Amino acid sequence: MLSDAFYDVDESPFYASEVASFARRIDSPPNCLTIHEFGSGSAQAVCDVFGLLPERAQIIGYEIDPTSCQIARAMVSAAGLSDRYLIREEDFFAARDAIKCRSALVANPPYLPISGSTSAFPDLSGGPSGNEVSKQILRSGFGRVLLIMSSFADPLSLFDEAIRLGYRLVYWNSISVPFGQHCNRPNVAAGIHRLAASGRAYVQENRYLVMATEWSLSRDTPDTLGIDGDGDVRATLVSTLRELLRPATA
Ligand SMILES: C[S@@+](CC[C@H](N)C(=O)[O-])C[C@H]1O[C@@H](n2cnc3c(N)ncnc32)[C@H](O)[C@@H]1O
Repeated sequence: MLSDAFYDVDESPFYASEVASFARRIDSPPNCLTIHEFGSGSAQAVCDVFGLLPERAQIIGYEIDPTSCQIARAMVSAAGLSDRYLIREEDFFAARDAIKCRSALVANPPYLPISGSTSAFPDLSGGPSGNEVSKQILRSGFGRVLLIMSSFADPLSLFDEAIRLGYRLVYWNSISVPFGQHCNRPNVAAGIHRLAASGRAYVQENRYLVMATEWSLSRDTPDTLGIDGDGDVRATLVSTLRELLRPATA
């Protein structure tokens, strides 16, 4: 069943449209345009926007959950994309050492701030701060990374880790989304409240920001932010997050 694999009506289409823009930004013939994907979920959203990707783009998706993987493969096949969107049933972190060309990676990673597993989706845990998997993804050394970040998963420590690893933030876009079925689980809600109490989660009532961020290891990548210096980018990120905390009526 499609509902047995991850697809969120707000987040997944946003992620997919950002994948399409990312692919267009990094497209520079004659270099190959192979994009690796961490966690394909149902693959539905990316299949829906595949027509917006450059024609030569190929995606290799790694999905750890066997049921999701089966659903994703069926989705890709039904969309007639089997020659361009390969779904591999693998733990990305086990597979990554064999990846030779680490130029581009896209990820909407697990970011629920819990340890261990959630009952319905065992692979949506991002560790106690919610950003542990994201940090591991950045440590994989890809040249350009499109990473979905959550405003409730300690986004500033993730930003700091990316800078420490030598990345520069070259693009971001965000949407405000309501807490979905996973965020409302008691253990997840408790994790979000714990982080909020220590100033590491940015939420407003039952909404949070899903941010698409692009990170580059190269100083030559064009910057769409128009902000000089990592410190100023961080300050802008902080004020964007604080904006979210304003009461809706203010
Ligand atoms: C938040 S969902 C995103 C799914 C899809 N990309 C989307 O945006 O609709 C994260 C996905 O990552 C998968 N995942 C978690 N850990 C993984 C790992 N180590 N390797 C590969 N996939 C993983 C989960 O099973 C889940 O399907």
